[in-house]
Amino acid sequence: MFNKRTKIREIISKQESQTGITVMGWVRSFRNNQFIALNDGSTNTNIQVVATLGNFPDELIKRITTSASLRVYGDLVPSLGKGQALELVATEIEILGDSDAEKYPLQPKKHSLEFLREIAHLRFRTNTFGAIFRIRHSLAFAVHKFYNERGFVYLHTPIITASDAEGAGEMFRVSTLPLENPPRDEDGKIDFKEDFFGKATNLTVSGQLEGELGATAFGEIYTFGPTFRAENSNTARHLAEFWMIEPEMAFCDLEDNMNLAESFIKYIINYAMEHNMEDLLFLDQRLAEEEKQLPTEKRSEMGLIDKLKFVSENNFERITYTEAIDILFNSPAYKKKKFQYEVKWGIDMQSEHERYLVEKHFKKPVIVTNYPKDIKAFYMRQNDDGKTVAAMDILAPGIGEIVGGSQREERLDRLTQRMHEMHISEEELWWYLDTRRYGTVPHAGFGLGFERMVLFVTGMTNIRDVIAFPRTPKSAEF
Ligand code: 4AD
Ligand code: MG
Repeated sequence: MFNKRTKIREIISKQESQTGITVMGWVRSFRNNQFIALNDGSTNTNIQVVATLGNFPDELIKRITTSASLRVYGDLVPSLGKGQALELVATEIEILGDSDAEKYPLQPKKHSLEFLREIAHLRFRTNTFGAIFRIRHSLAFAVHKFYNERGFVYLHTPIITASDAEGAGEMFRVSTLPLENPPRDEDGKIDFKEDFFGKATNLTVSGQLEGELGATAFGEIYTFGPTFRAENSNTARHLAEFWMIEPEMAFCDLEDNMNLAESFIKYIINYAMEHNMEDLLFLDQRLAEEEKQLPTEKRSEMGLIDKLKFVSENNFERITYTEAIDILFNSPAYKKKKFQYEVKWGIDMQSEHERYLVEKHFKKPVIVTNYPKDIKAFYMRQNDDGKTVAAMDILAPGIGEIVGGSQREERLDRLTQRMHEMHISEEELWWYLDTRRYGTVPHAGFGLGFERMVLFVTGMTNIRDVIAFPRTPKSAEF
């Protein structure tokens, strides 16, 4: 067996001397032809490997360059040097893979995040991205742990679908028809009957509609998968391919839905704080350094870890859409004409409005409920006022909308009437409407944008830095 190594994370956490251990990793730096900082990706902390002068041939020493991969066998002993408690005194060093240090794109200096996006295939090897992606992993694990502990069934909803769950038309077409000369029907329109699935299909924008089928049988389900939106928004918060968690619960109203969403967010934040403190501390310091460059009024009031503790320990604010519009309307920002976009009942709040509510007014996450029906999807439950629906969005400081959800319209007549108004075909969604025909129940659910959650927990500011290989308009490298 080749792999009998000890991970550096384990060595660091035990802090015990040990003879005859093997460590494998990539060289971060090599000092005085003697001291190798080796990293194996299990932690940002490097192990100091000592290649005692004279013990190894010059040809080997020359090949110990930045990012070369090594297998080292030796004894873990208390370090004489500063900066580490233990060091690994090597008796054997094997070069597993050479690395041409002159060509290697990651030089031992600070690179900009923009540059690192261009070499996203190597950026995991930096401390910043090491920390971000270990935290992302933990958050994903915590998502499953949270729902599993509560008896939710993990439902894998399809990636290819014929329906537009959000009715927003922002879909990527999936087709095997020839682009040059597609088959056409009598009216000259492209004939999707000839296509692979015998109808027009697209990548899913949400697993919710199928999720509702699961919830009305299992009671409680969740999905956690990739979703796709062909919206041409080149912002720091939008991806064309992002991951979403969508729980859906039968026998559940809007308030139950909000309670679940709030405890879910707190749970996964706490999980990261329990399991990733080293990485969070690193990002906390990184953020503090970055913010030193900003004018005082632009700096965050809290450091990253204080912010996470604050959010996990305090209740989210809950207000209606109508109250939110009133707050904006009466705000000093509105009076001083600081908002670029109009404020009036009925608007789809812009990010400047959401950020004002969360960052300036309440200074904590805010759940906004009961939005005007005209700016929300067809499936949301209609309120008695005839104007609003039982929707809820959660807005987070520094991010804006992180969750979107609602109680669903379980009354068949109300649902079909709304579909008719919004020109959504009943025939195509016959299977969805069947849940309302056979034992319909009050039910609710929401979607948490996973990358927006990772942004919040890592304190990063661009969504392209918290997904391994971002897909955005005009960009699909790697
Ligand atoms: O608000 P949205 O569009 O809601 C739905 O898709 C519902 N079907 C969810 C449900 O009720 N089951 O999207 C949900 C969340 C948003 O709040 C946001 O966090 C994230 O998904 N999101 C995006 N994240 C990154 N890039 C994009 N283009 C996103 N669009 C939405
Ligand atoms: Mg939304």
